[in-house]
Amino acid sequence: TDISRIRNFSIIAHIDHGKSTLADRLIQATGGLTAREMSEQVLDNMEIEKERGITIKAQTVRLDYRAQDGLDYVLNLMDTPGHVDFAYEVSRSLAACEGALLVVDAAQGVEAQTLANVYQSIEHDHEIVPVINKIDLPSAEPERVKAQIEEVIGLDASNAVLASAKSGIGIGDVLEAIVTRIPAPKGDATAPLKAMLVDSWYDAYLGVVILVRIIDGVLKKGMQIKFMAGDSVHLTDRVGAFRPKIEQRGELGPGEIGFITAQIKEVAQARVGDTITDAKRPANAALPGFKEVQPVVFCGLFPTDAADFEKLRESIYKLKLNDASFSFEMETSAALGFGFRCGFLGLLHLEIIQERLSREYDLDLITTAPSVVYEVHLNNGEMLELHNPADMPDPVAIDHIKEPWIEAVIFVPDEYLGSVLKLCQDRRGIQKNLTYVGGRAQLTYELPLNEVVFDFYDRLKSISRGYASFDYHQIGHREGDLVKMTVLVNSELVDALSMIVHRDAAEARGRHMCERMKDLIPRHLFKIPIQAAIGGRVIARETIAALRKDVTAKCYGGDISRKRKLLDKQKEGKKRMRQYGSVEIPQEAFIAALRMG
Ligand code: GTP
Repeated sequence: TDISRIRNFSIIAHIDHGKSTLADRLIQATGGLTAREMSEQVLDNMEIEKERGITIKAQTVRLDYRAQDGLDYVLNLMDTPGHVDFAYEVSRSLAACEGALLVVDAAQGVEAQTLANVYQSIEHDHEIVPVINKIDLPSAEPERVKAQIEEVIGLDASNAVLASAKSGIGIGDVLEAIVTRIPAPKGDATAPLKAMLVDSWYDAYLGVVILVRIIDGVLKKGMQIKFMAGDSVHLTDRVGAFRPKIEQRGELGPGEIGFITAQIKEVAQARVGDTITDAKRPANAALPGFKEVQPVVFCGLFPTDAADFEKLRESIYKLKLNDASFSFEMETSAALGFGFRCGFLGLLHLEIIQERLSREYDLDLITTAPSVVYEVHLNNGEMLELHNPADMPDPVAIDHIKEPWIEAVIFVPDEYLGSVLKLCQDRRGIQKNLTYVGGRAQLTYELPLNEVVFDFYDRLKSISRGYASFDYHQIGHREGDLVKMTVLVNSELVDALSMIVHRDAAEARGRHMCERMKDLIPRHLFKIPIQAAIGGRVIARETIAALRKDVTAKCYGGDISRKRKLLDKQKEGKKRMRQYGSVEIPQEAFIAALRMG
């Protein structure tokens, strides 16, 4: 393919502003099968992705387009994941493009999530084409949104394309803008191969599929390739592109985006951001920007039924084949038995994995309190990375503890500003900036990550009726007065509920936890004290009253079958309970107790 006729672009949009609809339209207009038509045909295993309407894996579609200048162009549309947890994957996708369409809902305007991606896109020197979508809506205010784009982002919006992806207005203009405004890629076909590994995923039929952007050189089928960071060599057995159906090709040249397979067993071997080169004639330097992805949120996953441990182990191994960013190691808990300590990119990532385990692998799981990674500095000068409260050293050995902080950008309509400020304040936030952009506040806060991982996002959405948007990045570790809080049920330590909290917040959190547990644990035949403690000191306490009658008491002696039924029912219920000493705790209690609400 003639490099001057290639255009590589991504679509930046806030959730629901119409990214998928626009992508479908572009595919349709250029003669391919749309994502929706595809998904009707190829119902794949990413059910959760579809249900939540979130794009987890970046995908690319190669489109053929004859422009108004009469020439044929190849347009590579790169889809990017839309959630803060997957920020690194987004950055690699953007690095593979020369431009972006910035899709903004004509009625909603610019949102924080969009902003973060736009700034990244600008950092990659992208040509950004604003597309004001949904102009068919009666509430559309394209002029106001144009002004907002100029004011907030500082981007010239005078020649923004007005479109309605839904009714097909302006689609031709979008295609022309891609060809005329986004620059062609640059690259040297004769240089040694240098390709960026943009993404990798596991496909049941093809094995590990790798999405690549060729920078220099030519990537051919049957070539010995080398991963420069992964330091491994593989033989390519398929080279091609998605249209969006798979189309095999003999080779990919400079500027092109496509896929390869090379009989790789697990995605962890094909790391996002790595440089692929020719093993026989390697490039002398790797591409910049490779980063080892580090999990930021950790929690324990245990089977509700201890007999399911093997099944959990197999399922976790299978999931790992498909998700390089998730980590795990075995963990034993005094009360929960065998399980795994898992690391995730964020809470959404955690939820996705948890849901896949329970849905696709039919596992009932107990999730322990999520934790971030603390730096524990000991008196002897050593530093310990702590991501499991259970491993907290004796407080007398600790000099100080540092916790990770983030900088968050929140966009919120004026009327909810008060409650959002209070939420940030309650979570130990430090306000950095507050500006107004057309009836909407833009807030910048520094917050401890551990105050955000639990339920910050849910709270933010609920107090703003869904209008607030949120984006963050990490800004390093800072010292904090942190303590380990433990929970005792009937004087037994429930290690799954131990957590690291700020001393000032410990009492409130402890009280809340005890109240929640009191509501969630069913009555037993005896009185059950619930306590929260720091070290040996109890900071909160609740008591569950004893049950007065045996459940079977109301089945007068003779009615054996009814009695049986009741007992069976109880047995079934037991499957979702955990035994702590002589107390049974329902599975829901573990997750519910952690919500601070
Ligand atoms: P995520 O996949 O969740 O990131 O959302 P998205 O940005 O891809 O949005 P999507 O294309 O799924 O569109 C969101 C909603 O807006 C859908 O109900 C679409 O039908 C609707 N929509 C998209 N484009 C238009 C448009 O031009 N006009 C109107 N009225 N609705 C649109």
